Order: sequence, then C-alpha cells, then structure tokens
Amino acid sequence: MRIDLMSWPEVDHYLEDRSDIIVPIGSTEQHGPNGLIGTDALCAEVIGRAVGEKSGALVAPTIAIGMAQHHLGFPGSMSLRPSTLMAVVRDVIASLAGHGFTRICFVNGHGGNIATVTAAFSEYYAESSFAAHGNSTPVECRLRNWWEAPSVGPISKELYGDAEGSHATPSEVSVTQFAFPDHIKSAAMRPDVAPTASFTDAADYRRNFPDGRIGSNPALASPEAGARLVEAAAGDLAAEHLSWIGR
Ligand code: NI
Repeated sequence: MRIDLMSWPEVDHYLEDRSDIIVPIGSTEQHGPNGLIGTDALCAEVIGRAVGEKSGALVAPTIAIGMAQHHLGFPGSMSLRPSTLMAVVRDVIASLAGHGFTRICFVNGHGGNIATVTAAFSEYYAESSFAAHGNSTPVECRLRNWWEAPSVGPISKELYGDAEGSHATPSEVSVTQFAFPDHIKSAAMRPDVAPTASFTDAADYRRNFPDGRIGSNPALASPEAGARLVEAAAGDLAAEHLSWIGR
C-alpha cells in the first residue's frame, strides 16, 4: 500500500495493528548509453512497492535523489551532498517515528547511498543516546540493497556472468525495461564490456569511464530478465521483512 495514496485516518488505522514501513531510496544519475537517468530510483521504487504488496507493509514515497557526486560529469545526473542526504534520511525517520513507526526498512537502489544512509541511522540513534537521561528509542532502521537479495546474484550470474559489472549493469537496466517497456533504448557499446577502476570526483569518473559504465554490458538487458529479478528480489526482501517484524 502506498502511503501517498492513503488518507491520514487510514494510516492511523494501519498503526493500530502494525508499525513497519518500506522507504524506497535511489538516485537520479547517468546509467551509461542505454540506461535511464532514473534507473536506481525506479528499481528501488518498483521493488520496494512489490515488497509492500507481498508483505502488506506501507510504502513511503521514493527518495529519488541520492549521493551521486561522482556522476555529475554527465548531463541529467543530480546529487545531494552526503551531509544533505544524511539530514533528509534522519528527518524522514524522525517524521515516521513521531507517528509510531518503529521498523523502517529502506530498500536501496544505489551503492553510493550505503555509507551515507547508514551514517544517518547512527545520527538518529545518537540523538537518543545523547539525551540527558538516556532515552531508549523503539525505532529500528535497516537498509537493504535489492541487488544483494540472495536470489538475485545467481540470476545475474547465470544471465550475464562477468558482463554484469558494477554500474549501469544489465540487471538494473533489465528491471527498468520490465517496468517501463515504452522507454527501452538501444545504443552501441564500445567496448562491449566497460573498464573497471577506482574513482574520486566527477571529472576523475568521466575520465576513467567515458560512457558512464563500470565493468558492464547493459546491451544484454531484457524485460524478461527484469521480471525475474523483480520477483526474486521482492520475494526475498518481503520474507525477510515479515520475519523482522515478527509476522
Ligand atoms: Ni545503478
């Protein structure tokens, strides 16, 4: 259930029975020659909503702009600084906690968010820890990367092997092709599989990865693969979510 399509009395009613919520979080950044700018936010949203359907959990609006400073050398990419994203995540948690949500699961679509979102959880917990007489917050937050759901890796490996890479992967592009079949794009990939290296800022990234990809060949993506990946990720994450909240 999408919380943005509910009324406040309906949310109030939900909170009488349970206190968990899914928050999709992604990024708006270049995804190579054929990947959508919104890939990371769209994957988190599609999979996060599917987890909500399977588990009965409420689903928050997607936090669609993440920590993607290294992609700013490509048009269309947008980023929050780590400190800005931490503030956003902390305030989202505090808003939900104030209404009685105690199990907040961020379904993540972007590797670059992990360190920042995890630090934001610590910021939230620290407020309780530093309180004069020591609060004990009932709130627990977790971050789950959809591509690390146990059933996802074997499918990516089977379909793409070493051409999966780590950015603009055929798996994530497949998920968007499944969800948005009217927006499938084709583009030449040179070389077929992109290089791999480390990077620092946006200029360094663009120098190392001229077309935006890291180690991947997203020309191999397909909507059929996307359907399998969404089902696998949502199935795993929903089961894990239900066990986390004791249902
Ligand atoms: Ni991505």
